[in-house]
Amino acid sequence: MTKTLLDVDKKGNPLFHAAKTSRPKYHEFPIEQTFPSQEDMACEAQLSALGTWEPLSFKINGWEEDKVFLKNYWVPFQPRKDQFNDRESILVYGVKDSKPNDPCGLSQLARIYGYKPTESSMNYPTAAKDLLTCMNEVFDFFDFGRTFLVRLNTGGHYPPHRDHILLNRPTIRLIAFLGDSVSSLRWEVEDRMVQFQPNTLYYVDTRKTHRLWSSHHHSTMLVCNIIKDWENTMKILHKLKYQG
Ligand SMILES: [Fe+2]
Repeated sequence: MTKTLLDVDKKGNPLFHAAKTSRPKYHEFPIEQTFPSQEDMACEAQLSALGTWEPLSFKINGWEEDKVFLKNYWVPFQPRKDQFNDRESILVYGVKDSKPNDPCGLSQLARIYGYKPTESSMNYPTAAKDLLTCMNEVFDFFDFGRTFLVRLNTGGHYPPHRDHILLNRPTIRLIAFLGDSVSSLRWEVEDRMVQFQPNTLYYVDTRKTHRLWSSHHHSTMLVCNIIKDWENTMKILHKLKYQG
């Protein structure tokens, strides 16, 4: 018997499971793949000086209207075999010719391409980008790599993980909380609960171990990967909500 969210999605389509990943042997990688450049070190030191969870001063208005036009694009986010985890996503920036309802988990994409594409190479907007008008000011301000909407439904979660571990990570993570999920969505970074405001964008240091889960349906975020370079780093400084 097929089971919803284990074998098939809510519409009865077979789930596209993520590829199994093995633990990277960083110590065996060629040094060019792991050693940070001068720009990497400058960006990482400057970003570390900011903190791990910093609100930015963008105005995000209109999600309630935008979500009506996006409602048919939601697909399961990176389902894994034999694990119940009710998460859904819409791809906003992906590889060339991507569609909003394409898979957007890197381990799912590894099954399609045979390798994990880099987040910085996924810099082509899908049709969802122009429908997400509440983020226009942000889209116009930074250079974007892989970016997606994700919503956690009741019980949906991300277990403890890091998004990046190497100092030469190609992208920086920004997360926007769309609508009001304050009472249902819980976020922890390094085992400490962090606070967020509705319709607010945060710089998040996702090199640090983090986890999240939702007790209700539709806790929605836009997960942005912007290109890590000195210009984008300076732009984050300019937009910090709490200045000197
Ligand atoms: Fe993460």
